[in-house]
Amino acid sequence: MRLDRFLSNLPRLNRKDVRLALATGRVQVDGQPVNNPHHEVREFSSIQLDGETLQAAKAARYFMLHKPQGCVSATRDPVHPTVLDLLNEPDKDELHIAGRLDFNTTGLMLITNDGQWSRRLTQPQTKLPKVYYVETEQVIDERYVEKFAEGFYFAFEDLTTQPAQLTLLGPYVARLSIVEGRYHQVKRMFGHFDNKVLRLHRESMGPLLLDPALEPGHYRALHAAEILLV
Ligand code: URA
Repeated sequence: MRLDRFLSNLPRLNRKDVRLALATGRVQVDGQPVNNPHHEVREFSSIQLDGETLQAAKAARYFMLHKPQGCVSATRDPVHPTVLDLLNEPDKDELHIAGRLDFNTTGLMLITNDGQWSRRLTQPQTKLPKVYYVETEQVIDERYVEKFAEGFYFAFEDLTTQPAQLTLLGPYVARLSIVEGRYHQVKRMFGHFDNKVLRLHRESMGPLLLDPALEPGHYRALHAAEILLV
């Protein structure tokens, strides 16, 4: 959000007050005086006016979890354990999931309090590939490869899926790279061939790979370099 917008949203400041406060160097962002009204501030910025804190600095947090089977990709669930139950962290209600997985899908799950960062990962427009290892009930053949590349019409959303890359690894095993994350997308794609997905595991999201040292149910904070990749 622009700094002038942030300040104007405060009930006690009108636009004129904001212009004046900025022009006279009374506003500080992250400890530095800022007089540019267009300066972008984030939920993690500290913002002060005349030395009074209007928004305290908050740390951005990023975690990588190896999601196990049998837990829900939600922050709360009345019946089942959730992925957030697996995190031993404070203020978990501030965290959200970047790209959900189904109850029995395993693999890479990214959890953060940084909405801009998670949007970059999950928005179809950014076309970041999400790579899945898939095992199915019926044989997967070359016809599938062509159809996945061509796209599937999803009537419910009234859209055709973006070209997806399917690599056959064995008669019942494939690796799939998709750039979207529609509801039950992979299962619906294989469902087109009446082929049930028996095992689904997310290996990577864009440049971020599931750390092979993480056992199912375990997690770690992302390294600074990993955060910057997205
Ligand atoms: N597609 C699915 O069908 N399920 C998942 O969990 C992820 C992608």
